[in-house]
Amino acid sequence: MSAGDRRVFIKTYGCQMNVYDSERMADALAPGGWRAVDSAEDADLVVLNTCHIREKAAEKVYSDIGRLREISQARSAEGGRLTIGVAGCVAQAEGAEIARRAPLVDFVVGPQAYHRLPQLVAQVGARGAAGGAALVETEFAPEEKFARLGARAARGPAAFLTVQEGCDKFCAFCVVPYTRGAEISRPVERVLAEARALLEAGVVEITLLGQNVNAYHGEGPGGPWGLARLIRALAAEGVGRIRYTTSHPNDMDDDLIAAHGDAPALMPYLHLPVQSGSDRVLRAMNRRHTAEGYLAIIAKVRAARPDIAISGDFIVGFPGETEAEFEETMALASAVRHAHAYSFKYSERPGTPAADAPGQVPEAVKAERLARLQALLAADQARFNAACVGRETEVLLERPGRLPGQLVGRSPWLQSVHLDAPASLMGRAARVLLASAGPNSLAGALVGPQAAPRA
Ligand code: 5AD
Ligand code: SF4
Repeated sequence: MSAGDRRVFIKTYGCQMNVYDSERMADALAPGGWRAVDSAEDADLVVLNTCHIREKAAEKVYSDIGRLREISQARSAEGGRLTIGVAGCVAQAEGAEIARRAPLVDFVVGPQAYHRLPQLVAQVGARGAAGGAALVETEFAPEEKFARLGARAARGPAAFLTVQEGCDKFCAFCVVPYTRGAEISRPVERVLAEARALLEAGVVEITLLGQNVNAYHGEGPGGPWGLARLIRALAAEGVGRIRYTTSHPNDMDDDLIAAHGDAPALMPYLHLPVQSGSDRVLRAMNRRHTAEGYLAIIAKVRAARPDIAISGDFIVGFPGETEAEFEETMALASAVRHAHAYSFKYSERPGTPAADAPGQVPEAVKAERLARLQALLAADQARFNAACVGRETEVLLERPGRLPGQLVGRSPWLQSVHLDAPASLMGRAARVLLASAGPNSLAGALVGPQAAPRA
């Protein structure tokens, strides 16, 4: 194996922040001659970029590590070596416990220490085939991480850009404040520089990421900037399509709401988790907003941008949730009519306040409530999609479709749109007539001169 032909497989679990982090880890390793591959079988280095938000997350990671054993043994038999690293939120939460329970693991690196990845890999390499105890790096040094992650590579016309990390809200069910740490915002100039690099690489759409992205308050010229100001500055730099996710209702300030009306680059889509429609449950969740407050924000956002697609997150069966309280969630969902939403059964996260709360709801009750909520949300999504039929809009063409001659892109409302289009339009925003709608996607047709068949 020569330097320059080293292969890394990064497996991404969970949210978009992890997708971004995986890309940045690949960027950080690239100067050392590491090339990304699509499977562990083809790799010399496997990094599991883990997520802790779903149930039994740590157990799933341990069983995935177990599955790498065979590949590792085969590699050793050939006189080679498979290096295994665990990154992400499970790495942060479990730390040295991973080293103890999974001796196969060479290093553990928390989400705030990715800039240390090349050194960790080099250190493991220097130890040779014998290996040794896993190296554990779970310090919190977020600013340093971003500053030292190196050049940014683009991977298609739509890119993620993390502008904020961590959370100070401490919702009673959530591990994020413990795994990702306190809320921090990247300085404005750093964000703009990364966006410029993406634009130069042909990126058309940027999704600004943060666990609490609308709480953004990065240092900029003249003091801290809010998210709306950052969005306007990115639009002025030439970013044609801008999105942000995910947000807390209490950080939806008037400037951000106004931007939905007056910044054309800001796409008409808002992911604003509500979790529950019951004020008692919201209080128990430590959400610090009410159902009415949430509806008032949605009304304001819709006044600014009437066609906006509203998305959200729901949890059913939070400890103590009664049938009547669940009905309040159904009523809230009916009132909002989401274009799209995620919904989950509450499940315990060790170390969070709700995990020890009395009144845990039986699994069967949670499942039944979730099914009812999901039926309602699916009907709302289908209704939203159907209402888009007949509109002419801009679709960013991102990837080939399943059929020859087809491309798939995203509408401004974040729906997948399938259409016949020449491959030369890949990566571009095309004018499209939305012709028909299914529950999860739309079909469209090119309009205007670009629709003319190629000679
Ligand atoms: N149980 C169920 N859902 C959860 N979420 C976060 N923690 C839990 C949990 N313990 C959901 C919330 C959050 C989304 C990212 O995941 O709805 O908004
Ligand atoms: Fe978790 Fe979001 Fe609540 Fe923060 S605001 S604790 S990330 S659910």
